Amino acid sequence: MDVVLTEWLSVMLRWLHVIAGIAWIGSSFYFIHLDLSLKPNQSLPDGVKGEAWQVHGGGFYHMVKYLVAPARMPDKLTWFKWEAYTTWLSGFSLLVLVYYLGADLYLIDKNVMDLTAPTAAVIAFLSLAVAWLGYEALCRSPLGKHEGALALVGFVFLVALTYGFTKVFSGRGAFTQIGALIGTIMIANVFAIIIPNQKKVVADLIAGRTPDPALGEQGKQRSVHNNYLTLPVVFLMISNHYPLLYATRYNWLIVAIVLLIGPAIRHYYNMRHEGKQEPLWPWAVAALGLITIAWLTMIGDPWIKTGGVTPSFKAAEDIVLSRCSMCHADEPVWAGITAPPHDVRLDNADEIRRHGRLIQIWAVQSRAMPPGNITEMTDQERSTLAAWRAQEAPSWLRCPSFLCGSDQP
Ligand code: HEC
Repeated sequence: MDVVLTEWLSVMLRWLHVIAGIAWIGSSFYFIHLDLSLKPNQSLPDGVKGEAWQVHGGGFYHMVKYLVAPARMPDKLTWFKWEAYTTWLSGFSLLVLVYYLGADLYLIDKNVMDLTAPTAAVIAFLSLAVAWLGYEALCRSPLGKHEGALALVGFVFLVALTYGFTKVFSGRGAFTQIGALIGTIMIANVFAIIIPNQKKVVADLIAGRTPDPALGEQGKQRSVHNNYLTLPVVFLMISNHYPLLYATRYNWLIVAIVLLIGPAIRHYYNMRHEGKQEPLWPWAVAALGLITIAWLTMIGDPWIKTGGVTPSFKAAEDIVLSRCSMCHADEPVWAGITAPPHDVRLDNADEIRRHGRLIQIWAVQSRAMPPGNITEMTDQERSTLAAWRAQEAPSWLRCPSFLCGSDQP
């Protein structure tokens, strides 16, 4: 019963999380585009920065932006904040449900660090809070006045955290953790800085006081950070479907590259929406970065040594039966697993052959399965699977040895 309940809760939370995330990022992209595309016009009233004409859904919109505020506060003001708050609340609940309560499968890899589930969950949660405080300190320090330097230090800060997480959690846990951490910083920017500052400005205006321009500047800085972090955070959130990203040797380097590519692409669009000369270097960075990531996922991991292993399906089958089938069977015997995960059955020769490609991705090219190597599969066994797969693969599909080394399947 509780298994079915948590599964349903998980579906509902994920649904909500994705929809709230679309609403949040969508409105944030929209307003950034609007802000950048405003054009000045002589006939606009005082205090207006510019206007933009837009067409959507069968109507024309005439948008104007007031630099500080209109002369008279409108009676009704729409705030954009619940999209962000809902994204975090649903995301954090999902994090607790999947990664903290299911820490043994998803957060912990005993070969990385032998943690108990409660310890892992506490470390994960505290690191979110500590990283946010560190980010706040950076932004408020003298460094916060220098955009470029702050970006560089921020990048090193996030890559160092990622590297640290890969030394504490499973690859998958580390990716989700750094994604959740960046997401938390972004939402804290909305919750603790942007919205409160805007509230103070509105209160000042209503009371007839002149608002402190520093409030707006601080909000703008955080909003720019959020803008540049959007693409990496979405990548990290979907990466847990791709074991070649999170469960390979250079997983932390992959995150570092994504932290370069995402902001670069965002920068291209910011320039384009502002009507400026569109820079081409972001696409060069993106192309080079993606090729490097693909290569990093391929150059293999030290556990695969097919040299000297005689390819044998029987040997491979025995390994899969003893390391995988307790979960991947019609009636799994592993506590807490009630059906073969993702409908992948690995309990007889036919099914094992049929799933050869998936076995290769999840247990040979990467270490994603068994989760956290919970059934203690040895490197020797992975090599035997690799030898079996190498024998099956057409030779033109094999990674050339100058790229992948001679031991690759
Ligand atoms: C302790 C139980 C357990 C063991 C042992 C285990 N798996 Fe899994 N497997 C899972 C779970 C749980 C998932 C679903 C992961 C998720 O939700 O993303 C999964 C997912 C998969 C998938 C993903 C299918 C897809 O397309 O998303 C493959 C492939 C897979 N396992 C293969 C293997 C192989 C090969 C082995 C043995 C080397 C193995 N598993 C051992 C629990 C297990």
